[in-house]
Amino acid sequence: MAESLTEADAAERLAWLAAEIARHDKLYHDQDAPEASDAQYDALVRENRELEARFPELVRADSPSKRLGAAPTSALAKVPHARPMLSLDNAFSDEELAEFVSRVRRFLALPADEPIALTAEPKIDGLSCSLRYEHGQLVLAATRGDGAVGEDVTANVRTIRDIPQSIVAAPDVLEVRGEVYMSKADFAALNARQEASGGKVFANPRNAAAGSLRQKDPGITAARPLRFYAHGWGELSEPLAAMQLLAMKKLGSLGFPISDLLVRCDTIEEALAHYRKIEQARADLPYDIDGVVYKVGRLDWQERLGQVGRAPRWAIARKFPAEKAETTLEAIDIQVGRTGKLTPVGRLKPVGVGGVMVANVTLHNRDEIARLGLRIGDRVRIQRAGDVIPQVVENLTRDEPRKPYVFPDHCPMCASEAVAEEGEVDVRCAGGLICPAQRFERLRHFVSRGALDIEGLGEKSLVEFIELGWLHSPADIFRLHNHRDELLGREGWKEKSVDNLLAAIEAKRRPDGPRFLFGLGIRHVGIVTARDLLKCFGTIDGLRRAAVSEGGEAELSSVHGVGPVVAEALVDFFHEPHNREALDDLLSEVTPAPFVSDARQTEWSGKTIVFTGSLETMSRDEAKEQAERLGARSAGSVSAKTDLVVAGPGAGSKLKKAEELGIRVATEEEWAKIVADAFGGSPK
Ligand code: IVH
Repeated sequence: MAESLTEADAAERLAWLAAEIARHDKLYHDQDAPEASDAQYDALVRENRELEARFPELVRADSPSKRLGAAPTSALAKVPHARPMLSLDNAFSDEELAEFVSRVRRFLALPADEPIALTAEPKIDGLSCSLRYEHGQLVLAATRGDGAVGEDVTANVRTIRDIPQSIVAAPDVLEVRGEVYMSKADFAALNARQEASGGKVFANPRNAAAGSLRQKDPGITAARPLRFYAHGWGELSEPLAAMQLLAMKKLGSLGFPISDLLVRCDTIEEALAHYRKIEQARADLPYDIDGVVYKVGRLDWQERLGQVGRAPRWAIARKFPAEKAETTLEAIDIQVGRTGKLTPVGRLKPVGVGGVMVANVTLHNRDEIARLGLRIGDRVRIQRAGDVIPQVVENLTRDEPRKPYVFPDHCPMCASEAVAEEGEVDVRCAGGLICPAQRFERLRHFVSRGALDIEGLGEKSLVEFIELGWLHSPADIFRLHNHRDELLGREGWKEKSVDNLLAAIEAKRRPDGPRFLFGLGIRHVGIVTARDLLKCFGTIDGLRRAAVSEGGEAELSSVHGVGPVVAEALVDFFHEPHNREALDDLLSEVTPAPFVSDARQTEWSGKTIVFTGSLETMSRDEAKEQAERLGARSAGSVSAKTDLVVAGPGAGSKLKKAEELGIRVATEEEWAKIVADAFGGSPK
């Protein structure tokens, strides 16, 4: 802002900033769909703070500096925090970190030579969560909300394996605070699944974590791979330690994950060196971080320092600069997804952005290309926002004359027409299963881990079999055994690999109902919706009858968890002659198990089971599903509350702990017998 700013200009700008920051807060917190990068958001907050410092009389009642995050949404119950959940002030340079230490020294009136030790640890890009334990039991989990009142996410948090349900030798009241996050790999896999099922695709791991945690249905959270790092505490009935680092270590020993990049720094030089170390490690860390958090080491000093506004005086976040770079857009390729969506991908002259070479950017859709006015040959500014797929943020040569880019109106794979339906931004290929790209993507989805999970039928084999003309639709997978001899004659296939593949296929002739339905790849039908649908209709046939019957759409949309959009997609799917044929064909090869709606009452109901080591005849997910069917819960860590530990080869510390605690331990074979007995001889 110019120095010559008048008071009227400043008032106008502050009003605009208040509205703009509130709008971004809402997009970020309520809709998990931010428009601004962290750096852009921080710049707005900073401008607001600076203007308010210059014109204190203009501080508005609705000033962003008086709020913490966004107000909680109404969907989840509100819970007041026993102690406020604070935010952090930011520093953007070495000097600003030094100023922070000077402020601490001044505030505490410490002599110039008194060392001020700090802790330093990564600032995880997730969402903060407070976990309240009373007498060792997790009784409440809440999001930050507005800092004073959060949202009750207890049921959802109970599905997170990193978070203990109960702890031993804990203070009577212990509130652990930390970050719920999603790893980069899990985020990519989740988005691939979401894309495949036509579900919501998340902008970055933070939004995926927030969207997954802030759910009405804990079943959705359970299906999302969330993780947790502790970074502090709230109410305590007794102190954890006298120093920040020791208190954190205590939390670690109680069973909470703490960062292995958490260190103590005795001098500013050490603190700066650790910042550089973390910055260097950033690209290789399995999760997103957006800076380094420093905290005053002595807890008695923290107490004295207290807080100012929304942030403690004893902590500061040194943020990484936004990662941006400039390069040339060399080509725009169109990828065709399973549902026929045409996604433009920008091919760039490779450029380093924050330590990573970037050669591709997603351009999202036709509208985004138009918004940026992109043409091949343009210079572009790209950004790696929150470590996700890089994006183009600006076209630097918009005004230069160049041949415009024309978005295709025919599918580049099968030449069928490609159109956007009214009110939709996505352009889709109308070729359905005649489109080889769609065929490949559908088959890939059908055999993927979340669906039928056919091991050994990877992308390479799928392409090979499609090219050989052996695979047209999913049913053909179950007829691959007819090609056994031909396959044996092909390069890379040996008797053992062929037999393993065919056995893996045979093992899925009676697939789980929801996984089968999910595998069909009907738009908007993810695994949770598939489960809801089968809970209601029992079988695929039952669902199909409902979908094609008169008034079927209304009946479907009344199912719990199913709205009009899903209902319409189902009706469309089951009316399409091609799909009906492919499904009939498939059902002549496989028989999905009818859905057993509620977990049975068994001797395992309400019990807690931990699976550890490798399982040989089933996947971990399958074993957990079996536990759920018995009415039991599967947990990630062994505690006194554990009733059974199923240990496969390679089991380590969990098995040891179970033995120490005298908990029953079973082999995988014994587990299969427990399941079979509970279900009268049939494990499914
Ligand atoms: S300390 C009173 N430590 O960043 C201090 N926060 O921008 C509050 N965050 O609300 C938090 N990593 O959700 C702390 N190592 C870390 C953190 C961390 C991520 C989040 C936290 C906080 C936000 C502030």
